Amino acid sequence: MTALTGSVVLITGAGGMKGIGRAVAIELAKAGADVALSDVDRGGDIPPGEIQAGWRGIESVAEEVRALGRRAACFTCDLADRAAIVRLAESVARTFGRIDILVNNARAIIGRDRVAVTDLQEEVWDRFLSLNTTAPFLLIKAVARQMIAAGQGGRIVNIGSDMSKQAGKFGAAYAASKFALIGLTQGAALDLAEHGITVNAVCPGPVNSDRVSYAERALAAAEGLPVETIRARVVAEAAKQVPLGRIAESEDVAHLVAFLAGPNASFITGQAYNVNGGTIFH
Ligand SMILES: NC(=O)c1ccc[n+]([C@@H]2O[C@H](COP(=O)([O-])OP(=O)(O)OC[C@H]3O[C@@H](n4cnc5c(N)ncnc54)[C@H](O)[C@@H]3O)[C@@H](O)[C@H]2O)c1
Repeated sequence: MTALTGSVVLITGAGGMKGIGRAVAIELAKAGADVALSDVDRGGDIPPGEIQAGWRGIESVAEEVRALGRRAACFTCDLADRAAIVRLAESVARTFGRIDILVNNARAIIGRDRVAVTDLQEEVWDRFLSLNTTAPFLLIKAVARQMIAAGQGGRIVNIGSDMSKQAGKFGAAYAASKFALIGLTQGAALDLAEHGITVNAVCPGPVNSDRVSYAERALAAAEGLPVETIRARVVAEAAKQVPLGRIAESEDVAHLVAFLAGPNASFITGQAYNVNGGTIFH
């Protein structure tokens, strides 16, 4: 028996080969959880490294989870579709019989938001709020209702950002959506405490996740360089700002998520913990 044996976790945005969602899936499966993996049909929004590796998103993560001896199932869901979010929670419960842990990890693809607030398009603003804030709210609502009905408590972990606490230039939409996620975390923690459901946030600084960025793609096209070269430059520059000398790996984030999802975190709720190598302290 391990800490999460018999538990079921639902993770959104779980298909990236170097993503936080995959790292969380592996970490929780190692702790004994069965895993419901969700992602949007990513179409062309796939990092070059995944194409080269023949990576198949959540299907590939599911194979890894099964290799660890746990059950895994895949649920394609566009979190911009509110009705689909409700169906996702129902489908996972139908497949596994329960949901004990929810990890809200997906987010809007960055890039089009990286402009001054005066140039920020309303559609981009709406998309960031929709995917980064409203989708976690709707999933918490649907999943917490199931948890309450099951009467076994539960764990919810929202993946925030350093931008949940300190906005950056050209980051108004992302910061607003991620600040709001902290408000959601605190409010939901208070509402769900009496049911033994904890709600916390994990706030990474830059992560070496190979996340798709339309801004990095545009820069690569403008400079005639491969996206990987631009990405490596961004990672190296970001590392210089971090007291511990590197940016986070997805596993650094997953370790804290696993702790918050585990039995030793039963008295922690409404908190927002940083995983940033020492860049900000609040
Ligand atoms: N990478 C970083 O530097 C960094 C830093 C701080 C916080 N974070 C946070 O960590 C989390 C994971 O980020 P990441 O870098 O591992 O992955 P990522 O940026 O590649 O995106 C996460 C996932 O969201 C999914 N997604 C995009 N649009 C979707 C939609 N419409 N419906 C459903 N899913 C959709 C993507 O397919 C992807 O699997 C995010 O919440 C992000 O804000 C990341």
